Amino acid sequence: MHRKSAVLLASAALVAAQCTIPETPLSDTISAPFRLQVQNSSRAEVHDKYMNLFLAGGGDRHLFIGPVGDPTFDLTLIDGVINWVPGGVRAVIGGEFSEVDHTTKLFMTGRGDPRAIFEPTYACNPDDPTETQVELRFITWQNQPAGGYICVRHAFDGSHEFRYYPPGNDLIDVSRECIQVTLVVRPSGSGPVTSTTGSVSSSTPTSTPITSSTTSTAPTSTGTPGAFADMTPLGFRFLGCAPEERRVVPSDFPGRTLPSVVWSSGTLTNAACMSFCSNAGYIYAGTEWSRECWCANSYAATRQPATTVASLANCNFVCSGAAGEYCGGDAWLSLYEKCEVGGPCENVVFT
Ligand SMILES: *[C@@H]1O[C@H](CO)[C@@H](O)[C@H](O)[C@H]1NC(C)=O
Repeated sequence: MHRKSAVLLASAALVAAQCTIPETPLSDTISAPFRLQVQNSSRAEVHDKYMNLFLAGGGDRHLFIGPVGDPTFDLTLIDGVINWVPGGVRAVIGGEFSEVDHTTKLFMTGRGDPRAIFEPTYACNPDDPTETQVELRFITWQNQPAGGYICVRHAFDGSHEFRYYPPGNDLIDVSRECIQVTLVVRPSGSGPVTSTTGSVSSSTPTSTPITSSTTSTAPTSTGTPGAFADMTPLGFRFLGCAPEERRVVPSDFPGRTLPSVVWSSGTLTNAACMSFCSNAGYIYAGTEWSRECWCANSYAATRQPATTVASLANCNFVCSGAAGEYCGGDAWLSLYEKCEVGGPCENVVFT
């Protein structure tokens, strides 16, 4: 009796600290763009990391957490299936079956492989039990018995890849255990932008806006030539309006001009991009498509911007976070270089 009331008291206290779960059920379609975060609070190496997409053969995207692939902000859920509309791919299960633990790969493709079906569900955030979060609960691998779960296991370069662990299974690969994870829907603006490996240069589709979605509108262009944001007070000099792959004809190589890291923001300014790249240890920073910030420590000679006033007209998209400032254009990058400490810091002269 005594013991029972203590337990009841303890659970009442727990309930009081819990988040509020809305009564209205969630739709199995989420059209507002989101990122996916994984949680397993007992596994620090994977907890709270965000899903990246990595371009593979045939336009497929393989799914990773950690320093591999492209941070992806514009996922949607359509009838319980995770979609990345800009790439025309959706999450499926199939292939690379592992004999050791009977797991199968979860990836994204435009082909007809059986889908992974999820159900959005409200839950309390284990990191902050007062906060309500939306989780994608795994329901089934299409045409297979319901159940099982999504897990991640160590892949390469410190990354983990996504797998499906079937129902009724109890096999574990001791050399690389597949860690069960909860998938959490996060608004597209949330979370850090994971730095990506050099492979991103060939894995980033050219000129697709990183955050394009059915609801976002195209950036504004005004076409005032010769205008650029002066960042010399912040220690960055303007080099010009640099072409992305699509603008170099014939194409020199596939990929981004500043391929190392990208950050996308609905409130981007050139200053915010300079500070982001600088803090991430890069000397080149470039803004593009109003809302993208790209960084690298070098770029190809074929991507060197012109020095004519006319060339600046291509970088005429108003920054998503500053009405009076330009942040690149469509496949054009407003390119800046960090000035040497103590040295001169002057923008290129355009004639
Ligand atoms: C974390 O992963 C382990 C190994 O897969 C699993 O046993 C455990 O239930 C997971 N914990 C959570 C909270 O998902």
